[in-house]
Amino acid sequence: MDKEPTQQKLDEQLDLISGRLETELKRFSNIEALGRAVYLSEAEKQLKDLLDVRTKFLGKKSEFASLKKSIGRVAAEGRASFGQLVQQTEAIMTASIDEAEQSLKNHIEAARTVRETIDVTMPGRRPRAGHLHPITLMRQRIEDIFVALGYAVEDGREIETDFYNFDALNISAGHPARDPQDTFYTTDGFALRSQTSTVQIHAMQRRGAPVRMIAPGRVFRRDTPDPTHNPMFYQVEGLCVDRGITMAHLKGTLQEFVHRLFGPETRTRFRPSYFPFTEPSAEVDYSCFKCGGAGCRICKWCGWIELGGSGMVHPNVLRAANVNPEKFTGFAFGLGIDRTCARIYELDDIRLFFENDVRFLEQFR
Ligand code: FA5
Repeated sequence: MDKEPTQQKLDEQLDLISGRLETELKRFSNIEALGRAVYLSEAEKQLKDLLDVRTKFLGKKSEFASLKKSIGRVAAEGRASFGQLVQQTEAIMTASIDEAEQSLKNHIEAARTVRETIDVTMPGRRPRAGHLHPITLMRQRIEDIFVALGYAVEDGREIETDFYNFDALNISAGHPARDPQDTFYTTDGFALRSQTSTVQIHAMQRRGAPVRMIAPGRVFRRDTPDPTHNPMFYQVEGLCVDRGITMAHLKGTLQEFVHRLFGPETRTRFRPSYFPFTEPSAEVDYSCFKCGGAGCRICKWCGWIELGGSGMVHPNVLRAANVNPEKFTGFAFGLGIDRTCARIYELDDIRLFFENDVRFLEQFR
């Protein structure tokens, strides 16, 4: 700056600075006009920018500040009027910046209010209510029937030792069921239970005799999936041990069960079979609930549908669970839930239950 700046030059400089500020403030001044269209974040950014503008034009290191310092060096006759002019200009510049700042703040406040407003008249978002899986519905129907007949419901383990999965069930060392080709094993040598019959042993060990319980749950077999097989499926085990229990009790119980599940016309049929843990053993069938035994698509034109396996508990099984076979006898059965469920809903393929296709599952609401 000149040693003694001329009044005119200083006036020009002042003009220039306030002119530049005016230009600069233009980009903040249209905020009101843009109204809601300016996003809150953009308005907040502008407010920060405006702070920088204030420092740039009126801050200690600004051009204006050094101009202010030069008042003292103005010739005495013009000093007062120049001083006044500087003050006026400062007041005007400050007011312009204040105005822009106020307008930005108003906008931000209004935008925040809009953002936080809840329109109570808007329709709410309806939560999508879930529902039970068809296998669960089936399991609950079965449980209700047996609970009404005086049975307790037991939970069982899905991973078992060889003792519960085989030895205690009278399954001999060389039996093919133990083969890894039929049973899944963990790397630690535990078996994924291949039938719910394992719970018979736990239940007798825990409750002793007499005992009457059912145990629904998942079982695992190395079966190739097809319309009637899955490697994971559900069974429900039944066990009744008491003094004087006979095959007649078994037949009567399952007869009552199918009456309650499929209707009073339903008949049962017991076919001789073999299970290592029952003696004698029988496969249980029920007459088709759709055609009454005449033959139809549901029963594959045979009139009968398989329910599961059953029999009188083998004395070795009672012994393995510390129950005296001289005093107690019992019957047991194991029913396949998936196949029964498929028949009831007239489905041709049990794999549908675990494909997780919502369009299929939603039909069971
Ligand atoms: C058993 O599992 C015996 N534990 C049943 C039993 C219990 C007999 C107590 C005596 C005393 P089985 O292997 O037959 O038996 O299976 C019983 C039912 O499970 C079958 O009738 C069938 O409905 C179902 N089932 C068997 N394998 C599969 C599979 N891969 N997928 C779906 N269901 C199956």
